[in-house]
Amino acid sequence: MKDRKNTGIQYSQATRLGAKPFIKWVGGKGQLLSSIEKSLPKAVYGCSDITYVDPFVGGGAVLFRILENVSTIKKAVINDINPDLTNAYRTVKDNVSELIALLKNIQKAYQLLNSEGSRKEYYLKMRERYNTKSLDNIENTALFVFLNRTCFNCPYRVNSKGLFNVPFGKYTNPTICDENTLLADSKLLQEVEILTSDFEQTLNDCA
Ligand SMILES: C[S@@+](CC[C@H](N)C(=O)[O-])C[C@H]1O[C@@H](n2cnc3c(N)ncnc32)[C@H](O)[C@@H]1O
Repeated sequence: MKDRKNTGIQYSQATRLGAKPFIKWVGGKGQLLSSIEKSLPKAVYGCSDITYVDPFVGGGAVLFRILENVSTIKKAVINDINPDLTNAYRTVKDNVSELIALLKNIQKAYQLLNSEGSRKEYYLKMRERYNTKSLDNIENTALFVFLNRTCFNCPYRVNSKGLFNVPFGKYTNPTICDENTLLADSKLLQEVEILTSDFEQTLNDCA
């Protein structure tokens, strides 16, 4: 991983990008960010070469807040056991323009549907396609985001066969493509290493 000093990206208060979670995730720490920040050791702000490791990244509320606010962090490693989630982080990092284009198309198609029944039918078709597990990384991430934005209560839940089974959410106008957030997140993720494994493996690798 490169030292941030050598990149064009500034991770400091002066250049807040507006990065935040691009998905809604159960158990997210969004409500606790101020307390988490207050409980960081003061030394974090004094050291010059800090590595931030998030072994359970989930929606990344803590990740994005810390990367935007703690300029002493020089490296970051994130991990989650959910491969579709970590694939989504990689897509946002490496293929954000293609992802945004695809999400805009999906959003346009969804907004043209003028009844709850037709939106539900579209949702179920997309869910079936996602569950084929045959999609390339970019489409897989687009459907992962779409299902997250339109399913009931936004959890990620799979059945015993590993198939996503959350029902339709009945929202009339959900934001499916949050372009500004995706672009901001992509910039912050450029220097982040993304792993998919059990947290113990990640902690051992980082020790
Ligand atoms: C509550 S979320 C994390 C919230 C996040 N840190 C934040 O800032 O909002 C918990 C995450 O841990 C992941 N997880 C559960 N068991 C795990 C394991 N054994 N190793 C790695 N990740 C795991 C889940 O997939 C889930 O995404």
